[in-house]
Amino acid sequence: MTTFQPTFLLHGADYNYEQWLDYPEVLAEDFRLMRAARCNVMSVGIFSWAMLEPTEGEYQFEWLDRLMDSLAENGMRAILATPSGAKPAWLAHKYPEVRLVDEHGRREPYRLRHNHCPTSPIYRAKVQQINRRLAERYRTHPALFMWHASNEYCNFGCRCDLCRDAFRAWLRQRYGSLDALNHAWWTTFWSHRYSDWSQIEPVDPSCHGLMLDWLRFCSDQVLNFYRQEIGPLRELTPDVPITTNFMLPDVGLDYWQFAPHVDVISWDSYPRWHGDQPDSAVAVKAAFMHDLHRSFKARPFLLMESTPSVTNWQGISRPKRPGMHLLSSLQAVAHGANGVQYFQWRQSRGGEEKFHGAVVGHIGGGETRIFGEVAAVGDHLAQLNHLTTTCNQAAVAIIYDFQNEWALKLAQLPRSVEKNYQEQCVAHYRPFWEMGITADVIDSVAADLSAYRLVIAPMLYMLREGVAARLAEFVQNGGTLVLTYLSGLVNESDLCFVGDSPLRPLLGLWVEETDVLYAHNQQTLEATPGNALGLSGSYPATHYADVLHLDGATAVAHYGHDYYAGQPALTVHEAGNGRVYYLAARTDHTFLTDFYGALRQQVNLLRSVSAPLPEGVTAQVRGDGREQTLFLLNFQPTPQTVDLGAVTYDDVVSGTAVSGTVELPAYGLRILRAGK
Ligand code: GAL
Repeated sequence: MTTFQPTFLLHGADYNYEQWLDYPEVLAEDFRLMRAARCNVMSVGIFSWAMLEPTEGEYQFEWLDRLMDSLAENGMRAILATPSGAKPAWLAHKYPEVRLVDEHGRREPYRLRHNHCPTSPIYRAKVQQINRRLAERYRTHPALFMWHASNEYCNFGCRCDLCRDAFRAWLRQRYGSLDALNHAWWTTFWSHRYSDWSQIEPVDPSCHGLMLDWLRFCSDQVLNFYRQEIGPLRELTPDVPITTNFMLPDVGLDYWQFAPHVDVISWDSYPRWHGDQPDSAVAVKAAFMHDLHRSFKARPFLLMESTPSVTNWQGISRPKRPGMHLLSSLQAVAHGANGVQYFQWRQSRGGEEKFHGAVVGHIGGGETRIFGEVAAVGDHLAQLNHLTTTCNQAAVAIIYDFQNEWALKLAQLPRSVEKNYQEQCVAHYRPFWEMGITADVIDSVAADLSAYRLVIAPMLYMLREGVAARLAEFVQNGGTLVLTYLSGLVNESDLCFVGDSPLRPLLGLWVEETDVLYAHNQQTLEATPGNALGLSGSYPATHYADVLHLDGATAVAHYGHDYYAGQPALTVHEAGNGRVYYLAARTDHTFLTDFYGALRQQVNLLRSVSAPLPEGVTAQVRGDGREQTLFLLNFQPTPQTVDLGAVTYDDVVSGTAVSGTVELPAYGLRILRAGK
């Protein structure tokens, strides 16, 4: 493992020079423009296998030598990619086993990318060979800065014989015997008991244990592929850090398991700005994802891809309005990014992505609005290099558990529409973003909970091994925990708990049944008079409403309607030195704002700015007690004002002292350093 500790913030893009070899004037022009935009790094070689190895065993590196040399001559660095994300035609045709097979047993024709079999020994060997060549050739090259393993690994979903056999071996390892497997998967249901390992086919959506294990296996297999793929890189360049670009959850990988194997986390972020949701809502989701990626290693991450303007795959993608590019780029930095990069530097002339946004479009040159906005990011980053050694500190964390998400998706519930696990995690995060309070996004199984005062686990349907005990210990030691409806229903194998839920002692209650609501059904949470949080009034409850029996907990709110009117809907249980809240129904943003506003005071969470922030504006702090940088970010299309009170800051960009009220332009930001 290599520690990544840059001394400057990265600024750059995916640069597919190999597409431009017939246009010799392009290279010099690109470097002129890269300097003008204050770029210091380029991701190169992604998808260039056919240009590196045009036929089997025949290599041509001259173009990449030229590119690497040009980077070094221009004082820039290379994030050098391994090319396994897309395979050359010769490979796919000569070795059909490298092409994935779908669930109906059909092998893919040669096309597209990100569609290889992750098990194929031939693909693994070929990838290792080309990676070894790259590492041998560039191991001492001055431009080599970081490895970019493949591109956006995901669950490829291959169901070829090799993958099926590997799955069965994985199951033998996990369960030891068919009896154990049949019990864990409850296969007596519909007479699906297996009497031989060879009968197991990962194609039966009615057997949730099977499909959940298949998803786990696929995630493990991709991780295993990655670990094999980076073997030559680790061997030949042990000091060069390795990343691979993650993308939005959920892509079928348990990134919590992947993260320990990469040196630096990076991810690709493509929010739908100016779409059918307010930009402030889009910003909250982007912020959640940035915080998740920071939390994977509790260290700064890289924004590996973002578009400088539009995408061409989101149905409708509007150009970023003036200011939005700088704002969304610096948003990533505010949440812990040590660099901002784009897909793509130069727009391709042909193929699938020829109309995707780029720093340099078909029109060329550096006179465009987009180029100007990219250059502005470069100017800002150059003034923020002090941030590289800092991270964000959080006292509150939201649990986001991929395996829980998979199990929830598979579950057939009385209300299966709009389970929306990810959206609900973001909904519980949003009040903290609005209050300007840093939040981490953590795993249920491995995260160190002792770092937090408040932990929130929305819809933790599946309690994996040890999780109930970890939560209990957190509360015992004085933590405050929030759990919700649809929690603690199944164990790690997706078997329902029988008798008492493992959460019963912690919650001080038991759930007898769950009402599910259509949009036209009326239900409310009514604040119980004199409740300890000081909540008052009535809030809508939707989707799910648990009917509870208290067994040590007390009611903070109760239901307003139907046969369970008057029964508890929000409870608190004093346990050990801490407290557990149980939110029995889905609620809206107004409720979550009031609830977490009250909890903020109860557990004493500090806001970055003491006065309330205007809607659509957040304040994020990067750094620790000695060295703090405050980012004020306005995601509204209109100017907004923030009250800083009596605290004096230095504006990093203008160099002036700032206190009292500050004006943020439409889609504008201020970056302030607390006085030292
Ligand atoms: C990413 C991918 C890039 C490019 C980009 C377009 O997901 O890694 O190669 O396709 O999307 O937005």
